[in-house]
Amino acid sequence: MSWRTYDGPRALAYDIERAAPDEHVSDVRDVIVGQVAHAACNWVVDIGAGTGIWSERLARWLAVRVIAVEPSPGMLKVLTDKRLADVVAVRARGEALPVHDDVVGAAWLSTVVHHFDDLAAAAVEVARVLAPGGVVLVRSSFPDQQSGEVYPTRFFPSARTVATAFPTVGEVTAAFAAAGLGLRHRHTPMEVASPTRQHFLRRVKARADSLLQEVSDDEFAAGLQRVRQWVDAAPERPVLFRPDLLVYG
Ligand SMILES: C[S@@+](CC[C@H](N)C(=O)[O-])C[C@H]1O[C@@H](n2cnc3c(N)ncnc32)[C@H](O)[C@@H]1O
Repeated sequence: MSWRTYDGPRALAYDIERAAPDEHVSDVRDVIVGQVAHAACNWVVDIGAGTGIWSERLARWLAVRVIAVEPSPGMLKVLTDKRLADVVAVRARGEALPVHDDVVGAAWLSTVVHHFDDLAAAAVEVARVLAPGGVVLVRSSFPDQQSGEVYPTRFFPSARTVATAFPTVGEVTAAFAAAGLGLRHRHTPMEVASPTRQHFLRRVKARADSLLQEVSDDEFAAGLQRVRQWVDAAPERPVLFRPDLLVYG
């Protein structure tokens, strides 16, 4: 199974492991609300929405309707089974959005830029559907930034190798610039990835992070041993993560 596969039990595992209360992502919420409040916004598109964790938050925090675009049937099923208020789910890819021109006040792309087969085409699509004055928010870790030092890759060399090939901030910014959207702001909000290291260990064991699909069973066992030593050193310490949050418009 590749890191790109989210179907079957992985979709549900993803949803369980990534669910978090608002206080764990309050810095991100503040950026979103601050940036999107300026755009005349009734609709937001969540591209690569996964199981709708962020779609639900966007609808609630911004009092908008969200178009949740997701190509994986497994992720889409978990999303639609939630019957989220103000979220319309659609099976599609970022490179071909089933959305009219100039409709959305904001586009949200959380940990998806490395999934696009054609980043340039996705950027053109985002620019097409964005209403005048709209903003694009890209939340991700990038191999050329501090955010690329995410915990699973610290312990598993094969996962690190895959993540090293993900698009850089410069490549994403160039793709949006070619589509007519400039980089307006950069944020590095603090998130609680796991409330304790023990919790993080459970998350690793579930292989909920897609990069862990790339790791052989032998490497996984060795990496898990390193994670256990790290957990034993401070089991109750929270695991923090600072993604890059890039704002284009
Ligand atoms: C790491 S998950 C992120 C899910 C969600 N955005 C979140 O942050 O919880 C990446 C998602 O992108 C989806 N995806 C893969 N290729 C895509 C594409 N070409 N266009 C849009 N989404 C895609 C995957 O199916 C998966 O659900």
